[in-house]
Amino acid sequence: MILEPVTPFRPREYAVKVADQAWEQRAAAALRRRVFCQEQGLFQDHDRDALDQHATTLVALSYLAGGPDEVVGTVRIHNDRPGIWYGSRLAVAPGYRRDAHLGSALIRLAVGSAHARGCNAFFATVQAANQALFESLHWRTLRSLDLHGRPHVLMRADLAHYPPVHGGTLPLVAVGRRAS
Ligand SMILES: CC(C)(COP(=O)(O)OP(=O)(O)OC[C@H]1O[C@@H](n2cnc3c(N)ncnc32)[C@H](O)[C@@H]1OP(=O)(O)O)[C@@H](O)C(=O)NCCC(=O)NCCS
Repeated sequence: MILEPVTPFRPREYAVKVADQAWEQRAAAALRRRVFCQEQGLFQDHDRDALDQHATTLVALSYLAGGPDEVVGTVRIHNDRPGIWYGSRLAVAPGYRRDAHLGSALIRLAVGSAHARGCNAFFATVQAANQALFESLHWRTLRSLDLHGRPHVLMRADLAHYPPVHGGTLPLVAVGRRAS
């Protein structure tokens, strides 16, 4: 008998939306902890801070059999002062990275929904390793800085590339695994 290599199952549909369900918020918090505490070691027990009290959490949900199944990505946005917004804690679950453009979709919803809520300028402090990703998505680097002992860059989104997204959700996206 010849055993063929088995490709791991990946859902083909995702929703990228504001986390408006308690389970989505809990799962987003757990994903952040896995990525920023366990994987990256940026924080010890948890990565929550004062911003979580008023930030909006966005999630990427995988769909299974037509219904939402799992939170596989997240980011949060907050309004710092009139017109000025920030994004932070962007994370996609390891098995879903560079696979279905979920990080890009989360960034699109983050900036687009802030734009719809009166944003004039959108910033993020980005890990230097992800600078190229943000540049390819029309973000400009303002300056370098050290944060949590790691190199970061303060970046600003070009709002001309981020039309306002109303309603807190991107249309359900059907995404196949990229051809390898
Ligand atoms: C950063 C992160 C959110 C990106 O998510 P993702 O779903 O893999 O990103 P996408 O698939 O949307 O990436 C879009 C494109 O950029 C590329 N890309 C992704 N990460 C990149 C990086 N760090 N540097 C350069 N290119 C990158 C992808 O390959 C893809 O290219 P393609 O269009 O040619 O296929 C994810 O890698 C992650 O969670 N990392 C760990 C946590 C982290 O670093 N968070 C960010 C803090 S600033």
